[in-house]
Amino acid sequence: MQKYSQIAALLQQCLDRKSTLKSIILKSSSNQSFVRQAYAIISKAIQYYDQLYQIVEEIKSIQYIDIFDYNLLIVLMLDIFNPQNKKAKKMGGVVARYLKTHKVLIKQLLEQNKIYEQEKKYIYIRALQQLPFESDPDEHIPNLCKVDYDIYSQYLSKNPEFLKGNTYIVQSKSSALPAYLLLRNIKDKIADIIDCCAAPGNKTIQLSHYAKQNNITGKIYAIERDEKRFEILKNRLNKYNCDNVEPLNFDFLTIKPQDYPNVKIALLDPSCSGSGMLQLRMIEASKDDSIQVPENKNEQVTQLSQFQQKMLHHLTFFKKLKLIIYSTCSIYKEENEDVANNFLAHHQKWESVNLFPEWPYRGVDNNQHYVRVPPKESDGFFVAMFKRKE
Ligand SMILES: C[S@@+](CC[C@H](N)C(=O)[O-])C[C@H]1O[C@@H](n2cnc3c(N)ncnc32)[C@H](O)[C@@H]1O
Repeated sequence: MQKYSQIAALLQQCLDRKSTLKSIILKSSSNQSFVRQAYAIISKAIQYYDQLYQIVEEIKSIQYIDIFDYNLLIVLMLDIFNPQNKKAKKMGGVVARYLKTHKVLIKQLLEQNKIYEQEKKYIYIRALQQLPFESDPDEHIPNLCKVDYDIYSQYLSKNPEFLKGNTYIVQSKSSALPAYLLLRNIKDKIADIIDCCAAPGNKTIQLSHYAKQNNITGKIYAIERDEKRFEILKNRLNKYNCDNVEPLNFDFLTIKPQDYPNVKIALLDPSCSGSGMLQLRMIEASKDDSIQVPENKNEQVTQLSQFQQKMLHHLTFFKKLKLIIYSTCSIYKEENEDVANNFLAHHQKWESVNLFPEWPYRGVDNNQHYVRVPPKESDGFFVAMFKRKE
């Protein structure tokens, strides 16, 4: 029970936005299995907090229990009634017994609110050749396939060498959106592209492949500040034959725009709170090297937001730059709409682009130009595009 009280307290810190979800949980313990469990429970609790709170109210109204810590009840409920968690069903103790007494109702309410129904049982894979197992093509992004997770893991257990090959990349639909959307908007076939925050390289690799397929000539500069992540980036660019990319181990904020005179297009996918990341949990077990491992950082969301704004601002000094795509795997407005709006407010020569009109999820406050991916669809994600006014 002590473990659940600790998770409930961590949940409160996340709700209070004391720091980012990732840093709160990663800093809480060195026990990896605790960290994984806390991450799974808390990310779900945050996603469905209002509904879960209502469920607690409802069962308390039927049978009162002298427990005022709603978070503890929520955390326990999520673990006990998680269809994937066989161990938790045997859990004893007063609170667990109380919740189990209302098993039928709780299950019904969880189902009604689609809390477990939407648990993802599939992953997205960008297939560079035909996949040797069953998959469904994504309706938007070329070569992106939706794969049943069980089929994928069964195939891997029989064919572990598949992991080492270079014919596929595990990449959530969200993460595949920015490069895809950028490409849809590139009119200039001769253009250098800059990827300002490139490692571990998912979007750079995608850009590299798309540029080749669409005869876009020009160099792709892949900038990465962190030395270790830069090594990963370089190895992956090599593995996936990205010979149109020049990786550079630099801090983007220190590079001189005049040294890159032909950069016309930029992709900015900066460090963020990672609060939208869910696919991570699904692919953790596969040990695939294309996982975006959470960085153990403790910046506050506001600090991240300031950093993101600085990065965008630096891009405006690239003289020939016409198009910027900005993305984060965060669900917080501060890192998304606020950053984008702030950029537009301070840079009159730039405007936002209605970049994916057929997509149903728009920015907070119904901003039609910004694109959101809610966590129930894929990883929680945000994309905005800016164009230099003619
Ligand atoms: C969200 S990750 C990028 C993920 C990557 N775009 C992908 O799709 O695989 C952010 C990356 O930016 C790097 N980074 C942070 N600040 C940077 C800076 N000032 N200059 C260059 N890279 C930076 C981080 O080290 C991290 O690897």
